Amino acid sequence: MINNIALTGCGNVGTALLELLHEKKDELKEKYGYEYKVVLITDLMKGAIMNPEGLDLEEVLAAIKRDRSFNSFAQAGGSFGELLDASGATVLAECTPTNLKTGEPGYSHIKKALSRGINVTTSNKGPLAVAFDELTKLAGECGASFSYEGVVMSGTPLIDMIKNGLAGCSVLKVEGILNGTTNYILTKMGTGMTYADALAEATSLGYAEADPSGDVEGWDAAVKVSILTKIIFGLDVPVSDVTRIGITLVTPQHMEEAKRRGCVIKLIAGIRFDALGIHLYVMPKEIPVDHPLAAISGATNAVTIETDNLGEVTLTGAGAGRRETGQALLSDMIRMSR
Ligand code: HSE
Repeated sequence: MINNIALTGCGNVGTALLELLHEKKDELKEKYGYEYKVVLITDLMKGAIMNPEGLDLEEVLAAIKRDRSFNSFAQAGGSFGELLDASGATVLAECTPTNLKTGEPGYSHIKKALSRGINVTTSNKGPLAVAFDELTKLAGECGASFSYEGVVMSGTPLIDMIKNGLAGCSVLKVEGILNGTTNYILTKMGTGMTYADALAEATSLGYAEADPSGDVEGWDAAVKVSILTKIIFGLDVPVSDVTRIGITLVTPQHMEEAKRRGCVIKLIAGIRFDALGIHLYVMPKEIPVDHPLAAISGATNAVTIETDNLGEVTLTGAGAGRRETGQALLSDMIRMSR
């Protein structure tokens, strides 16, 4: 079966997905029997292009590099629903920027696709933050798959590990580093770089959100623990209920003082239970240098899940990045096609 891919949001992550699909076309077919055509791409800035027979990815990628737009192509017109119908899409990769308040435009894109029985993978945290239950239920009702590996730890398969590898375990506690941008900034500040320069580097490397205040103020990590709480425990804890302190007040002096105490500062996110019930938090903490989390540098993330059957299980890997998040979408698409 040929998978007809529609892509919404052709920025850093969407473009990386197209590059991976193009580079690995033969390998995907040989190893996984995964065959595809990209039939529709829509992007707020670049425009919309469609070809039900399959767009020429070589040409599309060259245009993105050269013009940062689809001006050299005939633009496809119509509502998003009409474009999905006309393109014959069987899977949607939704990569528009995150809006934690409304979930838009990803929320509407995902609803339109699922209601047509089209499988969806997304790297966009917004729709999950505002409508996790609604979208999951809609997928079930419409016989479509809804996957979101890329919303936490980019392509590092944390969500797959929780849903499949840890099936049968009870989770007692979760703690780790869940934001690549802030870990990158703190790592660089530890080598003497200024906060502003480190943030600029994290942005140019494609780690930061479109609005990086979401990273540095802890919102991104907060939404990730909220989503993990839903996946692991089935509990709704809104982002507004997460104890949240970002890294904007962390100074080089704080880092020096931590160093004198044999520690490094990390933005730690977690889920724990106490006498009052479940508690979600994101905050800078001093971590002893011999603690495993102290060695997690750059945009790498790590999370330790304490379980009844396995004790502590720690997963470390890429937490952000273009190709790394493109990989999450690709792995979801291969899995959904099986
Ligand atoms: N801005 C996010 C981060 C991207 O830095 O972790 C990946 O979710």
